[in-house]
Amino acid sequence: MKAVEIKNLTIRFDDFTAVDKVSLEIEEGKIYGLLGPNGAGKTTIIRAISTLIEPSNGSIKIFGTNVAEHPGDVRKTIGLAGQYAAVDEALTGLQNLEMVGRLYHLPSKLVKQRSLEILQRLSLTDAAHKRVKTYSGGMRRRLDLGASLIGHAKFVMLDEPTTGLDPRTRNELWSIIREIQKEGSTILLTTQYLDEADTLADTIGIIDKGKKVAEGTATSLKNKLGGNVIQFSVKASQDKVQKLVPAAEFSKLDETWRLKADKDGARDLVKLATLFDKQKIKVEELGIRRPSLDDVFLELTGHTAEDQVVKPAKAKKRRRR
Ligand SMILES: Nc1ncnc2c1ncn2[C@@H]1O[C@H](COP(=O)(O)OP(=O)(O)OP(=O)(O)O)[C@@H](O)[C@H]1O
Ligand SMILES: [Mg+2]
Repeated sequence: MKAVEIKNLTIRFDDFTAVDKVSLEIEEGKIYGLLGPNGAGKTTIIRAISTLIEPSNGSIKIFGTNVAEHPGDVRKTIGLAGQYAAVDEALTGLQNLEMVGRLYHLPSKLVKQRSLEILQRLSLTDAAHKRVKTYSGGMRRRLDLGASLIGHAKFVMLDEPTTGLDPRTRNELWSIIREIQKEGSTILLTTQYLDEADTLADTIGIIDKGKKVAEGTATSLKNKLGGNVIQFSVKASQDKVQKLVPAAEFSKLDETWRLKADKDGARDLVKLATLFDKQKIKVEELGIRRPSLDDVFLELTGHTAEDQVVKPAKAKKRRRR
């Protein structure tokens, strides 16, 4: 049995289609990463699965149970950590978790025990009796994640669990998420970070403007691009480089050049090095790498996942490969 089966999910707000015929399946025990930029429709999908909004069309099944027909049963099997920390500031960390436990109708002794265990696991034991008001952003996100674990849910949804966190806290959260998976939960995770999807997800679905545009493992998505990417930076004007290597594209993001290479790319690399040497152009960086998910996203959508503003026409011209 599949943990999650979504078929042709469509969600409209008046005449705006936020989610457009999205279908996806998650195998039990796996992490599915829903990757997309601001406004792609990630939270809307999560809200529909959580029974918070009704789909305009399509169906959602959680462990075989239809969400529209048995919303109460579904709510008992899912845990949710929302995008905006939904904890009560006036309560302590422990009180927050206990409150969620009571919502799950768990016996109070068990609730206390589980809450303390979870706080310890999230390295929040020292802050257990402090009001959330005094917590940092990272501590709040951890507590929010903890709240989704109280019910021992078989299916956990994490909506952008690490957005806005510093790299170290992100890494901590990543290992907690992996632990949750090890304990047997199925996880749906949304993210705008390609590296997060790459690191955590067994399957990645790329979503853009409400539509699923690609799906696969990180490796299979990268393989779709074929070949390797040569990346270089040199001491020469953009005009000069463009004339010498017409196929190369300049990325303003990190001010380096990118060039799609053939399968191994070694010959292209040597050619480039010789060319720059002949022209007496100083090479600052010249290397070859496998395509990243970033390259895949750009190829599929014409803009980067972190782009706030979508400029398809322009992006296509400057597209990195
Ligand atoms: N209740 C609503 N009424 C009208 N439009 C909505 C509503 N909820 C979401 N939308 C719109 O649907 C689109 C998808 O929003 P959603 O919040 O699902 O995006 P997201 O992928 O979660 O983005 P972010 O990364 O910024 O959280 C957006 O254009 C948003 O403005
Ligand atoms: Mg969102």
